[in-house]
Amino acid sequence: MQDKLQQIKTEALLALKSVKDKIQLEELEIKLLGRKGGQLTELLKGLKDLSEDAKREVGQLANEIKKDIESALAKKKTEFVQQEMAGLLEKENLDITQPSLPPKVLGHLHPNTIIQNDLEDLFTSMGFMVLDGPELESEYYNFSALNIPADHPARDMQDTFYIKGHSDWVMRTHTSPMQVRAMQKYGTPLRMIVPGKCFRNEATDVRHEHTFYQLEGVVVDKDISFAHMKGVLESVFKHIFGPETKIRLRPKFYPFVEPGVNGEVTCYLCKGKGCRLCKQTGWLEVFGAGMIHPNVLKEGDIDPNIYQGFAFGFGLTRLAMLKYGIEDIRLLESGNMKFLEQF
Ligand code: PHE
Repeated sequence: MQDKLQQIKTEALLALKSVKDKIQLEELEIKLLGRKGGQLTELLKGLKDLSEDAKREVGQLANEIKKDIESALAKKKTEFVQQEMAGLLEKENLDITQPSLPPKVLGHLHPNTIIQNDLEDLFTSMGFMVLDGPELESEYYNFSALNIPADHPARDMQDTFYIKGHSDWVMRTHTSPMQVRAMQKYGTPLRMIVPGKCFRNEATDVRHEHTFYQLEGVVVDKDISFAHMKGVLESVFKHIFGPETKIRLRPKFYPFVEPGVNGEVTCYLCKGKGCRLCKQTGWLEVFGAGMIHPNVLKEGDIDPNIYQGFAFGFGLTRLAMLKYGIEDIRLLESGNMKFLEQF
């Protein structure tokens, strides 16, 4: 048995010399010391058949050999780790002797905020006021006041987070609840925008997130027409995507506008020729809009026979993604510094 032990050791040290990487090292370790079928382990099972004296003698030798093998393996492992580190340093071109940089004390704006600030400036220059609304909303302002009754399927499309014990409160699914709040508070004439956080119960993926930003706009006055709406939206999107940008309005149903439209802009990447970003259509879908429904004006204590208005809403988050070429919406709320530091 002693001979066998010595043989295992010699062979082990020899095998160790030809080990080329961590995986081979691990394989060798298992082959020698593995609890099931390891050469040494198996051999030592024979100890129990020896006499007491022989047991002691062989046992001692076995321990020494085991230790020798273990330390040879450990040494090799350290070598591999060092090689790996050196490789990494070389690849990343890191100079670990360089003194550290002072910590960054100044933060900077989030991409959503950059877009928001820019649009707030644009809208204030056109005479709009900038309002802020509650993120925890009543079901009334989020849905009912917007002509979306309790049994309306539009509520399913905007499933959100409800608050335990307060079945009439919701995390707002859009910035539209501020339409009626603003009408009630400021009356006519009204020109306002509301940028802010919205929430939906989404199965998140690269295009869907439970938390995102919208910007809502409302104009109410006498003699306000669809043409005013188109003019304002055209100015906004020319400002964002450049002067040659066109907008296209196609009918779409939203319960709180009539008529309602789905708004698209010429794809800023291919200038309307068709590319991957616009799925070869030349157009990017970016907003919803329409003439405010008489029922909504009434909820805002405004007489629809005297006043008209338009409303629009778009995803600030989506605009930030388009502007900066961000492909995964989840990055925006991730707090990932590597991502954020690029802006
Ligand atoms: N609130 C709508 C949405 O989130 C957008 C919208 C706003 C549509 C105003 C029309 C008028 O999808």
